[in-house]
Amino acid sequence: MKKIISFFITITVLLMVNLSAQNVSIIPQPNKIEMNGEVTSLKTYSSIDYDSNNQEIKLLAEYLSNSLKETNNVKIEPISSKTVKKKPFIKLIIDEYLPNPESYKLNIERDEITILGKTGAGIFYGIQSLLQLLTVSETSNDTVIPIGIIADSPRFTWRGAHLDVCRHFFPVSFIKKYIDILAMYKLNTFHFHLTEDQGWRIELKKYPKLTQIGAWRREADGSTYGGFYTQDELREIVEYAKTKYITVVPEIEMPGHSVAALSAHPEFSCTGGPFEVINTWGVFDDIYCAGNDQVFEFLQDVLTEVMEIFPSRYIHIGGDEAPKKRWKECEKCQARIKKENLKDEHELQSYFIHRIEEFVNSKGRIIIGWDEILEGGLAPNAAVMSWRGIEGGIAAAKSKHFAVMSPVSHCYFDYYQAKSGEPKAIGGYISLEKVYSYEPVPKELTEEEAKFILGAQANLWTEYMLTTEQVEYMLLPRLCALSEVVWSAKEQKDFQKFNERMKHHYKLLSAKGINYRAPRE
Ligand code: ACM
Ligand code: ZN
Repeated sequence: MKKIISFFITITVLLMVNLSAQNVSIIPQPNKIEMNGEVTSLKTYSSIDYDSNNQEIKLLAEYLSNSLKETNNVKIEPISSKTVKKKPFIKLIIDEYLPNPESYKLNIERDEITILGKTGAGIFYGIQSLLQLLTVSETSNDTVIPIGIIADSPRFTWRGAHLDVCRHFFPVSFIKKYIDILAMYKLNTFHFHLTEDQGWRIELKKYPKLTQIGAWRREADGSTYGGFYTQDELREIVEYAKTKYITVVPEIEMPGHSVAALSAHPEFSCTGGPFEVINTWGVFDDIYCAGNDQVFEFLQDVLTEVMEIFPSRYIHIGGDEAPKKRWKECEKCQARIKKENLKDEHELQSYFIHRIEEFVNSKGRIIIGWDEILEGGLAPNAAVMSWRGIEGGIAAAKSKHFAVMSPVSHCYFDYYQAKSGEPKAIGGYISLEKVYSYEPVPKELTEEEAKFILGAQANLWTEYMLTTEQVEYMLLPRLCALSEVVWSAKEQKDFQKFNERMKHHYKLLSAKGINYRAPRE
């Protein structure tokens, strides 16, 4: 008997030692954590209680049940709240009194775990925290969870990651995996970069040549590279993202970065072409003609189909890196400048974006564009994505326009992660610590102006990411650092503690078959 008692004491102590070493490794760091140092065993739990009148909560209960089965081999069945059940159980509850739509509270007692969310999104984030807290005990093969309370809310409403599927193309299955990774770290926006000089990746019913021709490029070695998503596949992605509380913001580039479209429709260029889908990297002179009304009809048709597929409030219209060379030499573009009393080609770009904005607004949506859309005058309701630095975000906020921060200094995850020994990348150097140190609200802004900073996002341009493994390698662990930038309270950020917590996450990521850059000297 004495032996048995001492055995159980040893197990309890080991569990507690395990747990304190791990020190509740949730990423992004929650606002408030109070743990009492004890653990409860998930094996004893038999059900997940949900409000049977709420279909969304039922789906969340099923999601939690499936996740526990997949990751921890623990079977806990969802059961409607109408059924009488025995403790211990997990309960999912909507709590209208929580501070913001994405807030949650996680109460872990010995025989009851409650996840409260103001909305389904809050409950979803509570589930993410719960899943990150689970530990498989090394001594008893049991899945344990620390007893205590977590109360949490995000700092920003735009917590994003972008992916360029044009320079290199990735299958739907990977897009879903990417969305899963974003969701695990409580990001809520997936910026889907769908058109480029090097490939047009979205099926358009009215203009089939866009994908028949524009989705394929001839590589230097003579091979053909490309691919595109059908509208059904894109709808599937949008629906999938919705179950993970992620909004998909599509980007259709204009007026620049559009040679793939022009290769299919040279009539929309200034010169008439012909063009080939580009097979090198850079910025190219051929862009949509701003003097041709048929170009605007075409883009309106494209955006109409895009808005039918993507329900997001924001539609990204690109706007970056549009050389003005062709417009300077084009009769139609020059005639437009005269007719509209514009000063120069920068004002012509502004005219272009204004005209597109008017159309998008007429459909009840808002445009967001790269910070070049500020040049020549910002369209009235447009939001700005500040990438060349933070100045675009500052200018937008000061003129009462919303801004998302993704400066090349901290948020370009196509840059190298170390000074040497890395696989080929586009250039630059943005370490994990550098990402972690990012503060999205520029100090130049007053408190009132700061309210126009919606949040921040990582950008993954894929010129040098040929495989999904390489995309994951460039994404992680830097995305984990960014998740604390956009979610956690500023005062709670601590890079050393973050690195400690990452130890648990490297294991979690490995267990899920997700690639990452492992820490090394
Ligand atoms: C960009 O990186 N050209 C927005
Ligand atoms: Zn022109």
